[in-house]
Amino acid sequence: MIKLYGVIGDPIVQSMSPVMQSQEFEKLDIEAHYHPFHILGKDLHDAVKGMKAIGVEGFNVTSPHKTTIMPFLDYIDPLAKVIGAVNTVVRINDEFHGYNTDGIGYIKALQADWKEDFKNEKALIIGAGGAAKAIFYTLLSKGMKNIDIGNRSVDKAKQLIDDCPYEGNSNAISLKEAEENLEQYQLIIQTTSIGMYPNLSESPLSLENIQQDAFVSDIIYNPFETALLKEAKERGAKTQNGLGMFVYQGALAFEKWTGQTPDANRMSEIVMKHLGGKLC
Ligand code: ATR
Repeated sequence: MIKLYGVIGDPIVQSMSPVMQSQEFEKLDIEAHYHPFHILGKDLHDAVKGMKAIGVEGFNVTSPHKTTIMPFLDYIDPLAKVIGAVNTVVRINDEFHGYNTDGIGYIKALQADWKEDFKNEKALIIGAGGAAKAIFYTLLSKGMKNIDIGNRSVDKAKQLIDDCPYEGNSNAISLKEAEENLEQYQLIIQTTSIGMYPNLSESPLSLENIQQDAFVSDIIYNPFETALLKEAKERGAKTQNGLGMFVYQGALAFEKWTGQTPDANRMSEIVMKHLGGKLC
């Protein structure tokens, strides 16, 4: 029987998950259908119950449901619980189990594009929202120690650090402080929406003081190159956009559903092909 999978969100038309996941089901000869479901917040509980009743095997969760779905699931993985967000649901023994593959997806992309072992490097995370939290907590859970958080509202960065159950050596700083002390970081991770289409010229901070061999990562992939990444490149740094994180979070979800490892390069190519026509 054809197995059912999908992604839920509001809005959902923009999601690249259906083309990316459907391609891998087909290439790996798995009989499955992956559907985008537009679910409003008020219908979320009914939607989860409905998906369980009709036999959905697994689904991705995107904005704005990543946190609000948690009470409606039967089990939450410890890392997802700490992050406070679920992006992947797997049916196990007729229960829905929630995971968060965003942070680990980010790490896999970093390993693919930068280096395998970056535990001892010093990092700056720009932003203190949901994406920053997933990345920050996952990096600390994997043993990285020196990660500062620079944010417009320093209080929010401080809260993120104070709430973190993993051991680390982190400071909450303003964007101005981050800008002035940028030379101490080997890794800079941009997690805000600043620079996202259509605000192409916006950047959270100047990279004037960046180390030349720093690695600058921006989780945005529309545009493929934000103003921040453009400046980083011009200053000689290596860069990475958010496509890798998106692909790997999806690849990890696919593995949890099927036990098979999809082809990350092929997934990346199909997303690029589809976004190509729509990008600015
Ligand atoms: P997400 O869950 O997608 O990470 P979010 O929770 O809305 O998004 O968080 C957005 C982050 O971007 C926050 O760190 C926010 O800074 P504040 O905590 O000060 O609000 C940051 N951000 C968004 N727009 C910004 C702007 N124009 N200038 C500076 N920071 C901005």
